[in-house]
Amino acid sequence: MQANKSAAKGLSIGIIMDGNGRWAKKRGLPRTAGHKKGAEVFRDIIRYCNELEIASVTFYAFSTENWARPEAEVRAILALFGEYLNMAYDYQKENNRVVFLGDRSPLPGKFQAQMADIEEKTQNNTGTILNVAVNYGGRQEIVYAARRLARQVRQGALAPEDIDEALFGQNLYTAGQKDLDFVLRPSGEMRLSNFMLWQASYAEFISMDVLWPDFTRKDLDRAIDEFNHRSRRFGGL
Ligand code: FPP
Repeated sequence: MQANKSAAKGLSIGIIMDGNGRWAKKRGLPRTAGHKKGAEVFRDIIRYCNELEIASVTFYAFSTENWARPEAEVRAILALFGEYLNMAYDYQKENNRVVFLGDRSPLPGKFQAQMADIEEKTQNNTGTILNVAVNYGGRQEIVYAARRLARQVRQGALAPEDIDEALFGQNLYTAGQKDLDFVLRPSGEMRLSNFMLWQASYAEFISMDVLWPDFTRKDLDRAIDEFNHRSRRFGGL
């Protein structure tokens, strides 16, 4: 079903994949089973975004705060991420441009090499941009951009007065991409949790009462429909 393709085309969406642990607990399964099902949903929703010609979709896979979880859970999430990196060449066929947001330095060297390779191989693809946020934090990203600009100022390549919002945005992980139209958070939570702080400045926030592993294409339709009924004023009247 593609009921709202014209309403979806060109949108920029952020998704906080939440509720994996609760989904597993309800079924008496280990939390990692929820992440596994969540990763399958991630894959299907990407395909649906491609069909809907969404401009960009950003998934929050692992935050800078998630390291505080039990070590076994962190390892399981990263292992799943590794499995999906191995499958990532599908994105080449599907015309996705894949961009990884976040600090990769603590990730295994093999992952870092694969991430760089996937980004390079998909950089000229013209379909939906797929951003995957891993070891990502919105504040960390802003600090990252500030440091990049500070280095240019120190080298004499840039005057502080030349730094404006557009240039700042060009130094974020999402350089060249448009801001988010909406942030979608399943599982009923209402928090932004350090996600895309800059890019979500004027985004609509859509909370949905479904756990991420149960999330379906129909739920994305519902979110797009809700977004299209919101009145966006961007600070004006
Ligand atoms: C939040 O649910 C989910 C996460 C912190 C991890 C999300 C990771 C994946 C879906 C799999 C790996 C990623 C990719 C890109 C393949 P939660 O555990 O906080 O759920 P809870 O609030 O119910 O406990």
